[in-house]
Amino acid sequence: MARPWSRITGTGAALPGRAVSNDELARQLAARGIETSDEWIVARTGIRQRYIADASLSTTALGAQAARAALQAAGLEPAALDLIVLATSTPDQIFPSTACLVQADLGAAGAAAFDVQAVCSGFVYGLAVADAMIRTGVYRRALVVGAEIFSRILDWNDRTTCVLFGDGAGAVVLEASEQPGILAARLHADGTQARILCTAGRLAQGAVHGDPFLRMDGQAVFRLAVNVLDASAREVLADAELGVEAVDWLVPHQANVRILSATARRLGLAESKVIVTVGQHGNTSAASVPLALDLAVRDGRVRAGQHVLLQGVGGGFTWGSVLLRF
Ligand code: UT7
Repeated sequence: MARPWSRITGTGAALPGRAVSNDELARQLAARGIETSDEWIVARTGIRQRYIADASLSTTALGAQAARAALQAAGLEPAALDLIVLATSTPDQIFPSTACLVQADLGAAGAAAFDVQAVCSGFVYGLAVADAMIRTGVYRRALVVGAEIFSRILDWNDRTTCVLFGDGAGAVVLEASEQPGILAARLHADGTQARILCTAGRLAQGAVHGDPFLRMDGQAVFRLAVNVLDASAREVLADAELGVEAVDWLVPHQANVRILSATARRLGLAESKVIVTVGQHGNTSAASVPLALDLAVRDGRVRAGQHVLLQGVGGGFTWGSVLLRF
């Protein structure tokens, strides 16, 4: 039997109840004596608002909501799944994995379920792993989810990070197919750069030891991101024997509009081909790529047969690209 391809057959997304504008956030931070402004945030990042979960919401619930939307779009019942891969850096528990908790929430008993931890590259990592598992011929219907409640690991006294991130989830259903879907996937990491973006605290003796908050050297991350995204895009295009002109849509990790523009410029790709959602979602880490993809599918920009390039980059340092025919 010929090796199956894997194809995305449905996408879904979930955002927690309320959008918080830059002005509202600036007012909240001012009450703590921290100065920021809509003007600074928009000029430096392109972010205009982000969604913040309330205390009762779990990463599991957010992930399961996005998963249900993706399953509905694919016309599949949860029981049909045989694999769930979930990317998150903000799991609900140390264990079991959030993937197992989502499996129970959906009622997809029996499907293999595990988490992938690659921070903002997590969804692209998860998609590459699920693709490889489907291509073995053993798994046929996978759910890949990126779900985050990053607001819970932000230091709300640190204006250099707390204005950047938001909460959300996105998901895709990936199915075995005789038609090409995912054409190429490449993942990378450089653990020597762990310190430039990390949440270093650990649990021991019933308490957090060390720093429980996200810390980032923004400029170091910015420089590395722009460098690796260009090379990573060229790598998957070469694997698929396609030129940049074949790319209909670039769906990159949404951290900063300046990084997205720089990547497009370096690749020689028109900015009109870049899906940009950072303005409305902020940086939602592992959720950002599937959230952006779902939005562009539902508003009719991404259509069947088009070539879509997904890119992740973030803590680890990790990065990777997936090139697919939608
Ligand atoms: O998802 C993982 C990937 N993450 C990323 O890709 C993030 C990559 N990095 C970035 O996007 C940018 O580096 C940032 C948006 C984080 C920062 O932008 P920047 O242009 O590199 O600004 P900066 O760090 O050089 O700071 C410029 C100034 C500083 O003041 P001084 O030293 O020039 O007086 C900061 O203190 O802006 C100040 N500043 C702020 N001002 C108002 C920093 N944060 C804020 C703020 N509001 N929230």
